[in-house]
Amino acid sequence: MSIRIKLLLSFTGMLVISLLVFVLTASLFTVAATGDIRGVRDFYKVHYQVNPLTEQEESIFLELKYLAKNEPDGLLDQELLKEYDFKLRTVRAGLYVRKENLQVYESNTLNQPELEANLPPFDLNNNQIRNTLSIGERFYAYAKFDFQFSDETKGSVYVIRERSPFGEVTRKLLPILVLSLVGIIVVANVMLYRWITRSVVKPLDLLRNSAEHIKEGNLQFTLDMHSKDEIGQLNETFENMRKRLHESIQLRLRDEENRKELISNISHDLRTPITNIKGYVEGIRDGVADTPEKMDKYVNIIYTKTIDLDKLVDELFLYSKLDLKQVPFMFEHVDIVGFIDDCIDEQRYVMEEKDIRLEWKERPGDPVEVIADLEKLKRTVLNIIGNAQNFMDKGQKNIGVSIRLSPEWVTVEIRDNGTGIAPESIPYIFERFYRAEPSRNSSTGGSGLGLAIAGQIIEGHGGQIWAESELGVGTSLYFTLKRATRKEAR
Ligand SMILES: Nc1ncnc2c1ncn2[C@@H]1O[C@H](COP(=O)(O)OP(=O)(O)O)[C@@H](O)[C@H]1O
Ligand SMILES: [Mg+2]
Repeated sequence: MSIRIKLLLSFTGMLVISLLVFVLTASLFTVAATGDIRGVRDFYKVHYQVNPLTEQEESIFLELKYLAKNEPDGLLDQELLKEYDFKLRTVRAGLYVRKENLQVYESNTLNQPELEANLPPFDLNNNQIRNTLSIGERFYAYAKFDFQFSDETKGSVYVIRERSPFGEVTRKLLPILVLSLVGIIVVANVMLYRWITRSVVKPLDLLRNSAEHIKEGNLQFTLDMHSKDEIGQLNETFENMRKRLHESIQLRLRDEENRKELISNISHDLRTPITNIKGYVEGIRDGVADTPEKMDKYVNIIYTKTIDLDKLVDELFLYSKLDLKQVPFMFEHVDIVGFIDDCIDEQRYVMEEKDIRLEWKERPGDPVEVIADLEKLKRTVLNIIGNAQNFMDKGQKNIGVSIRLSPEWVTVEIRDNGTGIAPESIPYIFERFYRAEPSRNSSTGGSGLGLAIAGQIIEGHGGQIWAESELGVGTSLYFTLKRATRKEAR
């Protein structure tokens, strides 16, 4: 059974129950008011028999009683009776006086033609002074006193009050009352039902639709959340789940894309030297290299290409291992100033050959200890210096190294006055296989893995690497390393 039907049933149930209760109450009230059930009427009777009149009415009644006892003929005086009647009327009661069987006075407020016939008979002992009586559907409470006029005729004086005007009102208003109450209950039920449906069933429908979407693999939608209740929370959790799922799928797709690209790049980069080698080997086989000099040249070319290939495979291997975080870092305390000194010394011969001046720009006087993996750090520095010398285009070729210190970090800058890098290329130079010039010409550069490897290594050290460059002026490559604190240095 769907929630919608359950709700509909429960609301209808409530409606029926409240209608039943209402009808029951209404009929009880009607019965009480119109006196169809004796029991209820009797309850009133007992109460009004003991206490038919209010205090004010009672005091007027006592006055009349006194008069009847001491000066009975006064009760024949219409003027006096009118006066009493007026007093009684102000407290909503009426006066009735009888002599033998004839009415002497009747308040017109009582407005009951059958009153006379229903009044109790004369009883000089006054056994029951206070009582109730009902005429048709009307109900009265009264106090009476029987006495004798001076001529010994039977006299009675009544102070009468009609009770339960509510009965009258109910009888007249009951149909309207019933209709409007039923109406209110029905309208309230319909509104409650709609409210609950809106706040429970609709969001659930939305949730189901979303789940349906996800099942079909569509994750590009958002779940609108309107409420803060349990269902709102459920929606929120669901929305978070969708986002996560979407992200992880995106990530997987990107990884997949990366892998494809990597494979295609590797195949391309491997094919070029291999095609070259194949060409020269074929030349030798076919006897194109027919002189010892030519033969020598061919073999040399093949040798260089093989070395290139070896270097490329080596870089690829290192890069992929770094990428998979499979290379352990051997961290130790290194004096970075001494380390750069060694690098410059080592490279001096190569640089002089290429007419490049490699020197210190800013060198701290004292040793500065950093935590680093020496071998990998060397690889980074060599990759950067290698690039600097590869992209030289000026007559005077300079590479300058600076070290700057902050309390926690050491920043190394390697600056050249080469071609510079176009601003739009700078964000990509640390990506694998990225080379700013489109032709993959191996005379100016390598595989495009040099800076990617440098980036991985510095990242492994917990440092940062970045470049600043101006096209035609030169390039600065920076990287940071964490300084060894004094405690660690011990
Ligand atoms: N010092 C530099 N001067 C000019 N361009 C540079 C410099 N260093 C790096 N680049 C640019 O960044 C690219 C990526 O460098 P790298 O990853 O070392 O690859 P590769 O040296 O194999 O081309 C280079 O191809 C080049 O376009
Ligand atoms: Mg390089």
